Amino acid sequence: MILLDGKIASAAVKTGIQEQTQQIIASGKRAPHLAAILVGTNGASETYVASKVKNCEEVGFRSTLIRLDSNVEEAVLLQAIRSLNEDAEVDGILVQLPLPKQISEQKVIEAIDPSKDVDGFHPSSAGKLVQGLPTFIPATPYGIMLMLEHFDIETKGKHAVVIGRSNIVGRPMSILLSSNLKRGNCTVTICHSQTPNLQELCLQADIIVAALGRPEFVKADMVKEGAVIIDVGITRVDDATAKKGFRIKGDVAFNEVSPKTSAITPVPGGVGLMTIAGLLKNTLQAYLINN
Ligand code: GUN
Repeated sequence: MILLDGKIASAAVKTGIQEQTQQIIASGKRAPHLAAILVGTNGASETYVASKVKNCEEVGFRSTLIRLDSNVEEAVLLQAIRSLNEDAEVDGILVQLPLPKQISEQKVIEAIDPSKDVDGFHPSSAGKLVQGLPTFIPATPYGIMLMLEHFDIETKGKHAVVIGRSNIVGRPMSILLSSNLKRGNCTVTICHSQTPNLQELCLQADIIVAALGRPEFVKADMVKEGAVIIDVGITRVDDATAKKGFRIKGDVAFNEVSPKTSAITPVPGGVGLMTIAGLLKNTLQAYLINN
């Protein structure tokens, strides 16, 4: 069994980005610049955004973090996005999700200039992805593709089962894996909460991408011998014995599933790190397009 270690794969991607950034700066140009907006104080969102900002610094990007109060009016957030759209020194914009109830996520996503949409959530980016046109790929599916590339996982002709149909992970993942790409050309089945025969379908899968957000949902009796398992779950589960009072659990019961697999991502230390790598790649791409 190969452990698909996100630390190793993301470090390789980040080294490439860092080298390109150094060349840009050495040529007298400004560094790529990511602006992140965080609304409220959701613990997980705080952690993710802090990690995104830290990783920008590590590869030599500039980053700006804009924090807004949890009861901020939607109009104020939309105005902040417009200012960033117009700022020629901002290459990528991301608004961390989820957002408080008073704010429409869809309006926020659509307010971001598609040329700065490094999350790839704008309908224009999603539409281009479906049509196989160059675009920003949402960071998590992009990171998974980079992971498959790094560890040379063969996908052509395989049956991939994607569990989850979100706009952020499941849906774009299913499109990428079915596309005519080096790490695509899979036959893809998308499963979701209304799929009656999930176990039967998973047992037919050469590759399973678990992105439903239910801790340890995928058990050993759902996995074919030799399958490749990509675990996208990162749920905080209360645990009084842990220092922070919680533990991070994936969507896959790693201990019982891993012995049956040919390759599997750990949680933490797997897909989460690749998501950041995907975001950095998109930010560099936005910089290169806009400059
Ligand atoms: N919330 C969970 N995942 C993501 C992501 O990839 N981007 C943003 N902006 N918010 C998220």
